[in-house]
Amino acid sequence: MKPFQRRILSWYKKNKRDLPWRKTTNPYRILVSEIMLQQTQVDRVIPYYLKFIKKFPDLETLAKADKKLVLQHWSGLGYNNRVLRLQQLTQILIKNKKSIPQTAEELLQLPGIGAYTANAVLAFAFNKEVPVLDTNIRRVLMHELTLPEHIDIKKLKKIAQSYILKGKSRLWHNALMDYGALVLTAKKTGIAPLSKQSAFKGSDREVRGFIIKTLLKEKRISINKIKKSFPEKNILSIAKKMEKENLIEIKKQNITIA
Ligand code: ADE
Repeated sequence: MKPFQRRILSWYKKNKRDLPWRKTTNPYRILVSEIMLQQTQVDRVIPYYLKFIKKFPDLETLAKADKKLVLQHWSGLGYNNRVLRLQQLTQILIKNKKSIPQTAEELLQLPGIGAYTANAVLAFAFNKEVPVLDTNIRRVLMHELTLPEHIDIKKLKKIAQSYILKGKSRLWHNALMDYGALVLTAKKTGIAPLSKQSAFKGSDREVRGFIIKTLLKEKRISINKIKKSFPEKNILSIAKKMEKENLIEIKKQNITIA
């Protein structure tokens, strides 16, 4: 083992976080956690994850579930179209009598799964030796190995791959994530993330969240009523985009859940 690996592992033994998705290797549950964690912080995800898994414990249950019920268990996490794609994915797998795939090629064909999520599922569910590069792990590697700030992703992936502990991909990546989240923070290292979430207040996301939250309480809402809460925003254009994503339906001036 290289000194860097030894250091991370011995730190992890004493300091690891107790996270609910680490108590399972069930690929569906790992996938749910990774989709939730894509744009949302760990602390906010935990209660949603626990509630979601309790209500929709497996692929079949989620595939068959009512869309409104599914949205109810997601709303508040934001980026609600994530859960529609997740449900769509379960429906595709069930229809084809398949389970969660064990290769990146197959995973990448499913809705809502990009390069990061595919590798996260492969490592955390199946212990496959593929590089998981989220913002925390990227920062740890950059700092510990003093890599140049503008290193390209292909090179970084190769380096990340070369450090994965044989037969211990799951453990190694969990350790790197915790070390990044708790020790080598962005503040401490001065390494900026590749992308930063834009402000929520006044954003399209805020309007989208408002529309979904309202529709979980009331059957419909009119475009004009939304305009009253967000006079500066182009509500119709936001709603049309949501309609395209199959979140909502627009009929005349009224919006309902699709
Ligand atoms: N961020 C993304 N995936 C994560 C995981 N499995 N554990 C902690 N933070 C994460």
